[in-house]
Amino acid sequence: MKVAITETVLRDANQSLIATRMPFSDFEGILEVLDNAGYHSLECWGGATFDSCLRYLSENPWERLRKIKSKVKKTKLQMLLRGQNILGYKHYPDDVVRKFVAHAAQNGMDIFRIFDALNDFRNIETAVDETLKQGKHAQGCICYTISPIHNIEKYVEMGKQLESLGVHSICIKDMAGIMGPQEAYDLVKALKQNVKLPIVLHTHSTTGLGPLTYLKAVEAGCDVIDTAISSFGGGTSQPPTETLNYALRQMGYDTGLNDKLLKQINDYFKPIKEKYIKSGLMDSFVMGTETDALVYQVPGGMLSNLIAQLKAQNAIDRLDEVLAEIPDVRKDLGYPPLVTPMSQMVGVQAVANVLAGERYKNISKEVKAYIRGEYGKAPGEISPELIKKVLGDEQPITTRFADTLEPAFEKTKKELGSMARDDEDVLSYIAFPQIAEKFFKEREERESRTVTYSIVRKQV
Ligand code: CO
Repeated sequence: MKVAITETVLRDANQSLIATRMPFSDFEGILEVLDNAGYHSLECWGGATFDSCLRYLSENPWERLRKIKSKVKKTKLQMLLRGQNILGYKHYPDDVVRKFVAHAAQNGMDIFRIFDALNDFRNIETAVDETLKQGKHAQGCICYTISPIHNIEKYVEMGKQLESLGVHSICIKDMAGIMGPQEAYDLVKALKQNVKLPIVLHTHSTTGLGPLTYLKAVEAGCDVIDTAISSFGGGTSQPPTETLNYALRQMGYDTGLNDKLLKQINDYFKPIKEKYIKSGLMDSFVMGTETDALVYQVPGGMLSNLIAQLKAQNAIDRLDEVLAEIPDVRKDLGYPPLVTPMSQMVGVQAVANVLAGERYKNISKEVKAYIRGEYGKAPGEISPELIKKVLGDEQPITTRFADTLEPAFEKTKKELGSMARDDEDVLSYIAFPQIAEKFFKEREERESRTVTYSIVRKQV
C-alpha cells in the first residue's frame, strides 16, 4: 500500500510559522537533498510567498521559482493558487489569471492546487482550464468547514463538480486544523466511493488533531498527505514528516521516503529555526497546541488576530462576547468557510458588532461587496434583513464577478513600458502594484551598484 507525501517546509510551514519570511538563501543549500528524499511533491510557491518575496525579501518571486526548478529536477513542484484571486485578495480578470498560470507553468510549476474561499467553483474554472491547457496537474480544493449546512453529501457534491471540471486530483483543505479523525475517515471514504480521482488531505497541527486525522484519512484510502519536516512541523504548521513516515510504515504503508535524507533535511533546518526564534520571528504561540479552536470552531490564526485587534482597541475584556458573536455573523453571511479573506471579514464584523453595542451599525466595504455577490455565491443563505440593509432595493449579482472585469494584461504592459522587463514583471505589478514598483526600483539600484563595482574592479 502506498501513501505519497508532500513536503510543505518551503511554503505552508514557512507561512504558518514565520509569516513567510524565509529568504531563498536560507533553503538553497538543501534543495538537492529535498529533491532526492522521495517526496510526491514540494510545495514551494504561491500562497503568501509571492507577496512576501516582493514586500519583505526584495526577491523576484519568478526568479525564485526558476532557481528552485534548476535544483529540483525529479520531484514535482507545487503551488497554492487562490483561483480568481490568484495570489491577492480581489478578483482579477480572466486574461490575467490565464497569463499567470501560463507563466508559472513555463517557469517550472507542475502541480497547481487551486481553491476558492466560498467553494464557488466558477471562481476556479479559468485557472483549472489554463492549467490543463499548459499540460500541468490541476488539483481542485474543497475548503473544509463545520456548519449546520455543511455535511458529507454537500462535500461529495463538490467533489463531483470538481471532477467534472477535469481536475486531476482533489484536495480537502482543512486550513484551520479542526477536522477530527472520524470526520476525515467518513469524508475520504465517501469521496473515494463517489469520485475516481486521487484524494489529498491538507491539515494543520494547530489543534493537535492533525496526525490522528491523517492516520484515519489514510485508512479510508487517502492518497496524499501534506507534512512539514519536524523542525518546521507541528503547531500552526503541518504535522511532522518523520513522525507520519514512521507511523505509516509501522501500519504497513510505503511512503517512498528516505529516512537518512529526512534526517539530513531536518538537521539542515534546525539552526535556521533557532535563528528565527532568536530574532523573534518565530513566536512560541505558533508552536503550541491551540485547543480553543475546537471550542469556538475558529481557526488559530483568526483567534490570534482577534486578540491583537481587541488589545489594540483596549477591549480585550470583550473577547468572550466577540467569540459568541462570530457564529451569529457567520450564520448571517451564509456560513462562509473561515479562510482568507472570509476569516478576516467575519472577525472584523464580529468585533464591530460587539464594540458598537449594535449589530451591523458599521459594515466594512468588504462585507458589503460580499453581500453584493462580488466574491461569489455564499454557501448558505445570507440574512434577508442584512441584504436589505446593505443593498436597499438593489439586487445582488448572481453572475460570475470576473465576467464584469475588463481584460487588464496588455493595457498594464503598455502603461508600465520599460519599468517591466518581462511579462512576469507585468504580472507581479498587477498582483501588487505599489510593492512591485518599489521592488523594481530596489532592483535597479542594486544592479547599478554591482555594475559600478565591477567596472571599478576591472580598472584595478
Ligand atoms: Co494550509
